[in-house]
Amino acid sequence: MLQSLSLSALLLSARVLASPSSPPSDPLPLLIWHGLGDNYAADGLAEVASLASETNPGTYVYIIRLDEDASSDRTATFLGNVTEQIATVCAAITADPILSSAPGVNALGFSQGGQFLRGLVERCGGANGIQVRNLVTFGSQHNGIAKYQLCKPTDWLCKGYIGLLKANTWGAWVQGHLVPAQYFKAVDEDTGEPTDEYLANSNFLADINNERALKNVTYAQNLAQLGNFVMYVFENDTTVIPKETGWFAQTNLTSGDVVELRDRDIYKEDWIGLKKLDEKGGLHFKTIEGEHMTLGDKVLKEVFKEWFAPPKASWKKVVEDVVQEVLEL
Ligand SMILES: *[C@@H]1O[C@H](CO)[C@@H](O)[C@H](O)[C@H]1NC(C)=O
Ligand SMILES: *[C@@H]1O[C@H](CO)[C@@H](O)[C@H](O)[C@H]1NC(C)=O
Ligand SMILES: *[C@@H]1O[C@H](CO)[C@@H](O)[C@H](O)[C@H]1NC(C)=O
Ligand SMILES: *[C@@H]1O[C@H](CO)[C@@H](O)[C@H](O)[C@H]1NC(C)=O
Repeated sequence: MLQSLSLSALLLSARVLASPSSPPSDPLPLLIWHGLGDNYAADGLAEVASLASETNPGTYVYIIRLDEDASSDRTATFLGNVTEQIATVCAAITADPILSSAPGVNALGFSQGGQFLRGLVERCGGANGIQVRNLVTFGSQHNGIAKYQLCKPTDWLCKGYIGLLKANTWGAWVQGHLVPAQYFKAVDEDTGEPTDEYLANSNFLADINNERALKNVTYAQNLAQLGNFVMYVFENDTTVIPKETGWFAQTNLTSGDVVELRDRDIYKEDWIGLKKLDEKGGLHFKTIEGEHMTLGDKVLKEVFKEWFAPPKASWKKVVEDVVQEVLEL
């Protein structure tokens, strides 16, 4: 008797929940951080943004920019202090009325934009910061780069900056001003350990990966709070060296041997929360065919459906939950 009463009460509330008057859940807003040499107003990004809102109608998309002027935004992909850039983006997002009032956001990072979004999660997450639910990165340099080869063949501006930074990677001026230098990583050829110069001078990567003796526990807490972290590596990427950096792997450039993330200290000692995230099923290693950033609509659409769709409150699920609750009474 008691049980059947509870059952009808529960079914009634289930009906109310699923009735047409209850609003459908909206997709979370989407942040996109573009790559080197790109700018937030570029046509390609506008297309990605409209594909995102076509796939999940109602998605509010914010393309991250460091300047409202498109050409200055592009310059900021080569030139700037990444620590300051992430702080600027953090301030802009937390001050945005739509982004800051949403229950969370999703995030999509292209190439270097991927590790910068991760930096944003680590530094700007937490209770009063940005709540990133799912983070997807394409061809990013999470474990740094071992060579500078990031410019398109005809991108002379990019090549100019790269030439400048090759000369003096670890100098304070270069680390404070040239973006790719701040995720360049040098390791000892024999031991595979990061060099002292890198640990002492890297303005961004060594810090955000908690590679120094003193770890920032906030970084690990914030990253482990992601729902999912999905990392795509391009199978035939010859721009990012080594391409396995997109999965936080360490590659021996001489032998080609790859030490996977799960075999590295950053994971085993959980410096940045990746192990915790993995243990709750939130870490995903994906490959995609082709050269660096050869991304078609088909893949993007699948990604948007899988990771950025609103949670489904289907009848089937509601009824299953009710039955489960009744069984537990
Ligand atoms: C750790 O990172 C947080 C977030 O960026 C920062 O507020 C805090 O000062 C850092 N702590 C240390 C010890 O550097
Ligand atoms: C980058 O900016 C931060 C914050 O202003 C500053 O503390 C740091 O020294 C700068 N890095 C370099 C290498 O100049
Ligand atoms: C990288 O490979 C070379 C050539 O096989 C080898 O001599 C070197 O010890 C390797 N380095 C590490 C850290 O395994
Ligand atoms: C990727 O590289 C492999 C081996 O070099 C080649 O067989 C394959 O056709 C390439 N795939 C694409 C999509 O370029």
